[in-house]
Amino acid sequence: MSESIQQLILDTLDTQGSIADTRTLVVPGTSHAATSHDAQLAILGALNSLLSREMVTYETNEVISHALTAEGAQIANEGSHEARVWSVLPLKGQGEPINPGQLKKEVGDETAKVGQGRAFKNGWIGKEGAGLVKLVMPTIFRTGNLSSGEKVLADLRKRKLIAQKKGQWFAVMKGANFSTSIAKPETDLTADMLTSGSWKTSTYKKYNFEAEGIPTSGGALHPLLKVREEIRNNFLEMGFCEMPTQSFVESGFWCFDALFVPQQHPARDLQDTFYLSDPSHSLPPQEAYYNRVKTVHVDGGFGSAGYRAPWQPEESSKLLLRTHTTASSAHMLYKLAAKCRGEDIEDDTKEFTHGAASTKDANDKTTAKVDGFRPAKLFSIDRVFRNETMDATHLAEFHQVEGVVADRNLTLADLIGFMRVFFSKMGIEQVRFKPAYNPYTEPSLEIFAFHPMLNKWVEVGNSGMFRPEMLEPMGFPKDVRVHGWGLSLERPTMIRYGINNIRTLVGHKTSIENIENSPAVMF
Ligand code: PHE
Repeated sequence: MSESIQQLILDTLDTQGSIADTRTLVVPGTSHAATSHDAQLAILGALNSLLSREMVTYETNEVISHALTAEGAQIANEGSHEARVWSVLPLKGQGEPINPGQLKKEVGDETAKVGQGRAFKNGWIGKEGAGLVKLVMPTIFRTGNLSSGEKVLADLRKRKLIAQKKGQWFAVMKGANFSTSIAKPETDLTADMLTSGSWKTSTYKKYNFEAEGIPTSGGALHPLLKVREEIRNNFLEMGFCEMPTQSFVESGFWCFDALFVPQQHPARDLQDTFYLSDPSHSLPPQEAYYNRVKTVHVDGGFGSAGYRAPWQPEESSKLLLRTHTTASSAHMLYKLAAKCRGEDIEDDTKEFTHGAASTKDANDKTTAKVDGFRPAKLFSIDRVFRNETMDATHLAEFHQVEGVVADRNLTLADLIGFMRVFFSKMGIEQVRFKPAYNPYTEPSLEIFAFHPMLNKWVEVGNSGMFRPEMLEPMGFPKDVRVHGWGLSLERPTMIRYGINNIRTLVGHKTSIENIENSPAVMF
């Protein structure tokens, strides 16, 4: 097909010199001029193939045309909905009125519905008993301006009676290599051509040294992974060790109870937390620790009055998708305190506490021996889950960046100082702190950063000094303080890459092209 169109174009150019309008061509196999959209598309294909061989040049012209939609065509053939309703009804007083059910059968549901309303409005039909009749009026007339002014077209488009179609047609001229023969130039020199000698007379396709070639495809890191790597490096530079955080599923005990989150806390509700149905419950935690945690909740202890609220073992053992990585921090802190509890267990936290001992322990080797405490700086960056309504800035799962520092006699000033260094490493120099509340930290601070691009203060994290009600049941000595903080990985990533809808950062709406093109470092 394409070849015969190509031949037609070349022959027409040969006899006429040029083709002013390709809509005048009569495509082989048809008997009429190529006015349709499809015919012009086929012509375009042929033109492009000839253009690549410089046999022709062409100019593109656009036309806008209108075509009737199915409904429009029906109205054009059978009359408007209201006219069809009118025409099937008997004239008032001259026949049995038609009831609405019957009318539907006669003219179809759509016409009965739309047509009745309009015919009533126009005063063409009326009611007689339970049925409909046409009012005395011998004929109805076509209304409306039959010219195709833009206003009329717009109205018909709005009523979906016509649809706009964009069309193209072309003006064609001879190209530098014009000839009426469409023999393709050779792209390869073959052994056959050499033996037969046809290579001498063949024409060859020119090499295109300008061609850019196919872009090589390669993997690309997602922006979240790039920012994660950068933050991970910041932590490592500051002497932190990465915590294992592979357990997405936790028990209520580790996610909440161990953190002194009361069993009645709203964060534990079904609306906020995803609970597992199978298996739905965890094995019991170590009994002595479980009992200490339970006691500090119900009766208090370690200088605390406790919540004095009922305790349900059931709440403790429920399995859930962790709502924060602080659940993993709690596991690590509990392990870190093993020696303090006097447990002679294989110390698998050693690799996480390779940092120097605290100044106090370094000076006083006996303390370390006596209570077994070793300071630690730990971090994690991993996924958490919350039963959130999704919107432009919230998904039901996201990543938390979390750090904890355990040492003797840390103060709030240490936490604030740490925060300033940590955020300045992320390029955030201006930070402010606001008192806040977490069940597991006291005092607690929300962290705000000034965002120069947004020109406002935005909340970037949450932090605090872990409460004795959490640390002492684990077995930490009284002078050990642990501070911690958490922030989302998505927020700094979105700010960094100028993404304002989280659904374009993760999920099926993500643009792979943007991911491939986004730079690794953006300060
Ligand atoms: N878990 C807190 C959150 O989800 C962050 C945090 C971690 C706060 C550690 C204080 C200490 O927002």
